[in-house]
Amino acid sequence: MSTVQEKIELMLEKKEHLMQGGGAKSIEKQHSKGKLTARERLNLLFDEDSFVELDMFVRHRCTNFGQDKKELPGEGVVTGYGTVNGRLVYAFAQDFTVEGGSLGEKHAHKIWKVMDLAMKMGAPCIGINDSGGARIQEAVDALSGYGGIFYRNTKSSGVIPQISVIMGPCAGGAVYSPALTDFIFMVKNTSQMFITGPAVIKSVTAEEVTAEALGGAMTHNSRSGVAHFAAENDEDCIDQIRYLLSFLPSNNMEETPRVETGDDPNRQDESLNTLIPDNPNAPYDMKDVIRALVDNGEFYEVHQHFATNIICCFARFDGRTVGIIANEPNVMAGCLDVDASNKSARFIRFCDAFNIPLVNLVDVPGFLPGVDQEYSGIIRHGAKMLYAYSEATVPKVTVITRKAYGGSYIAMCNRELGADQVMAWPTSEIAVMGPAGAANIIFRKDPDKDARTAEYIEEFATPYKAAERGYIDMVITPSETRPYIITALNALSSKREDNPAKKHGNIPL
Ligand code: HXC
Repeated sequence: MSTVQEKIELMLEKKEHLMQGGGAKSIEKQHSKGKLTARERLNLLFDEDSFVELDMFVRHRCTNFGQDKKELPGEGVVTGYGTVNGRLVYAFAQDFTVEGGSLGEKHAHKIWKVMDLAMKMGAPCIGINDSGGARIQEAVDALSGYGGIFYRNTKSSGVIPQISVIMGPCAGGAVYSPALTDFIFMVKNTSQMFITGPAVIKSVTAEEVTAEALGGAMTHNSRSGVAHFAAENDEDCIDQIRYLLSFLPSNNMEETPRVETGDDPNRQDESLNTLIPDNPNAPYDMKDVIRALVDNGEFYEVHQHFATNIICCFARFDGRTVGIIANEPNVMAGCLDVDASNKSARFIRFCDAFNIPLVNLVDVPGFLPGVDQEYSGIIRHGAKMLYAYSEATVPKVTVITRKAYGGSYIAMCNRELGADQVMAWPTSEIAVMGPAGAANIIFRKDPDKDARTAEYIEEFATPYKAAERGYIDMVITPSETRPYIITALNALSSKREDNPAKKHGNIPL
């Protein structure tokens, strides 16, 4: 009979063995691709020594195709919890060194467990994906595993922040778990997501494409919009995840964390008084406005490379997180198109779900005209912005810097769409449409068309018609915007608003 000491040593040996995952050779292969192992990733993600591993001893029970002879340490996935910036977080990381990180029945059950715990505890859940997909030998058991993950992703949506990290292959139906979560991070050159890979595409459509061009980090960050953040390598990616978490509450019942930023809430910025060009059609950089307004000029862009005609970012005012949605006059004159509508509507809904106030910076000449946009369903997609803003009950502050025309202005959250406070710079042009378009319709037969257009500009391309009617609350000097926003957010911090009782709405998808 073994002694207690021998039993402890046996346990330690077993653990030591399991910690090696697929073994030294596979780890070396993983490193040679520029990738960290699952445990290295988790150790970086969590505060030092805070990671607690669960289910290390879980073993598969597959007997197909000689699987019973395989050990598959840890079942190809490392799961557990710990703290990030001192706050509780749950995570799983697929271990590519074990059967390519493929997902079998018990692998899925380990993931289910941390997802369930994260929901019960009201803590963010982070999934690191590096996997060949469903473990082929496990057949329908693997499919059941994915089904349970998708179900949990959906039930957790809007309750806890869910972040997916792609640090290797993620193909076939496996992509739908990340797609159901709030944010997807991808690492350049080492991660790919696609429904069907290059070989299948070639056999079906004869198109030839590399895996990176088809589903690499920049493809999904700039083209498809599937991914929200791109990282240079695993370390950079994990740094970014920790940074993102610093802006977020742990769940939908919590307020956002407040941080001492040291930036004076009453700080004014004179540069804003000269930022807008005299020529109303000349572009400027809306990121300069954001930088001048927010605490220490610091903001974190979501979808930085996608639909760059609109900016969505997290930042802080007087230490509190806000979500900023801002038109970018530097890109397509800041027009709203299909991609911009999708990008911002999803961001607005995330912020609303997690009690993050919205600040809208408006310089929008309209929805992008064009056959392509109409055929792509700009009506359906643009409606998402109207829906998302109307539905959002968090504090909403709108600042008009220049153009605020027609439906696109409403889509950027005017008062009637529920903005709690609307302020306009003296450079604002709040009107049903731009002067040139208006003149072409109402003065087209007028011999004094130019003079009448000039009158129109003088009278209507200003904030004052809207101010006379009370559609905006105030016209302010641009340099005073930061203190005005902070005062508004402070006043709105006790806002109480509920949507009518319903099962759920039917956002135009
Ligand atoms: C079982 C798998 C596997 C899988 C990889 N492996 N994917 N085992 N099921 N899905 C094993 C490999 O056999 C190999 O085992 C080890 O993992 C490492 O894989 P390699 O091929 O050597 O690595 P690499 O060259 O880097 O290629 C990685 C890869 C490739 C691109 C992911 O392995 C691959 O194409 N795998 C199959 C991907 C796929 O078709 N998955 C779809 C499954 S169906 P050894 O013993 O040699 O080390 C699916 C549907 C889900 O996912 C539906 C959900 C709704």
